[in-house]
Amino acid sequence: STPPPSDAADRGIWSSKLGFVLAASGSAIGLGNIVFFASNAYQFGGGAFYLPYFIALFVMGIPVMIAEFSIGTRTGRSFPMALRALVGKRGEFVGWWSLTSALFITMYYVALLGWALCMMVAALGGLMEPGATAPFEPFLEPTAGPNAQVYFFKILATWWPMLAVIAIWAMTLLALWKGTETIEKTVRVAVPLMWLFMIVLIVRGVTLPGGTDGVMYLFTPDLSGISKPDVWKGAFSQMFFSLSLGLGTMTAYASYLPKDSDQVNNSFMVSLLNCGFEYIAGIAIFSMLFAFSLNPAGSSISLSFFVIPQGISAFPFAVKAFGFAFFFLIVMAGVTSAISLVEGMASAIIDKTGAPRATALACVAVPGVVGSLIATLPMIVDPGLGENGTVGLNFLDILDHWAFGYSLLTVGLIETILLGWVFGAANLRAFVNEHAALQLGAWFDVLLKFVIPAILATVIVWNLWIDL
Ligand code: PHE
Repeated sequence: STPPPSDAADRGIWSSKLGFVLAASGSAIGLGNIVFFASNAYQFGGGAFYLPYFIALFVMGIPVMIAEFSIGTRTGRSFPMALRALVGKRGEFVGWWSLTSALFITMYYVALLGWALCMMVAALGGLMEPGATAPFEPFLEPTAGPNAQVYFFKILATWWPMLAVIAIWAMTLLALWKGTETIEKTVRVAVPLMWLFMIVLIVRGVTLPGGTDGVMYLFTPDLSGISKPDVWKGAFSQMFFSLSLGLGTMTAYASYLPKDSDQVNNSFMVSLLNCGFEYIAGIAIFSMLFAFSLNPAGSSISLSFFVIPQGISAFPFAVKAFGFAFFFLIVMAGVTSAISLVEGMASAIIDKTGAPRATALACVAVPGVVGSLIATLPMIVDPGLGENGTVGLNFLDILDHWAFGYSLLTVGLIETILLGWVFGAANLRAFVNEHAALQLGAWFDVLLKFVIPAILATVIVWNLWIDL
């Protein structure tokens, strides 16, 4: 079956390889790298986590990325249509299913970014400064002294996050307005800025007294992790999300590349940039945690939204600037990921229907904005501490649990089975190797056909086991 004839002018094309690498790494680097990685790494014991994580990168992350990139360039179509062209209608169905999960994930992803934006503005206003009563009295009741946690809960209980969510959606849509052209313009600024801000935070973190203890904790290899199955499970699930796999994003982005692009090279670059960023974010966060003896037990949300800010409040100088820098970083990193999530869906709608870009964007944005607003409604969010210091964010947790815990991983499983068995791993590999400097060996087939599906199936069954 051939792809439907949608070579609409509204399909894009990257102006250079650099533009693509910036966009794809901007997609991969996001909340996953800052918010979720650090809390996973902490939960699974620092040095015990990163060996399994490293293995997950090579065994699953890079091979699946090669597959998702190459089906994009091979067909010149986004996810559902690319799968349809290669494995028929079943493939298309899986593609739309994955984009449905992408829509739900975008809803809460943007909600989190809205909170981060509120915290960014609040930090700039002096919220984290010692002794500050903050300029927010008209909206928030003042507390005694800096207490990021109290302020965060107060912000959650106002309408401000809804306004922030609208601002984040507006930025995202603006960046998508002219497709690859405006995406490239955005990532050329945002991605280098992200790295710069991260480096500033690391330098601050490791020069704090006691900061290097955190780095030791993160990097001292601890082989005990290898024998703990939940560490492996954590590493493999985190890897999938962090590399933006299984949600149609990477295929859509790759479909704007020339057919002869080297996807082995691209995949190595993007995933190594992503994991590199993740480790340096880990250094920045762990050095702060250890310098101030903060305990990040609890959710990843609490870690970023009040444990770290609490640490920043204790900085000897420039509290405002660092507080701003931390949340600015989260917003930058998150918006470039949200852009890619929305582009994956919009480009699929364009390919399927030939609709103009503005219409396709509206089809995604209308339900997306509504969902994000619902997720931040003050009466839906439960601003209070649950057991072990976790924040009760019910709607968001439900979305995360289903969209991430099941849907995403199940799509990944079916996708690898379809590509590995129905289309054929050898077939895919032959196409990739035509344009690759580093040739894929038969190991690629073994991973795609057996190892990766087995791992994903194990994680899914395990999640079910825990739930039932
Ligand atoms: N990879 C992004 C992150 O780490 C999340 C994401 C997933 C973005 C899938 C796009 C697609 O935050």
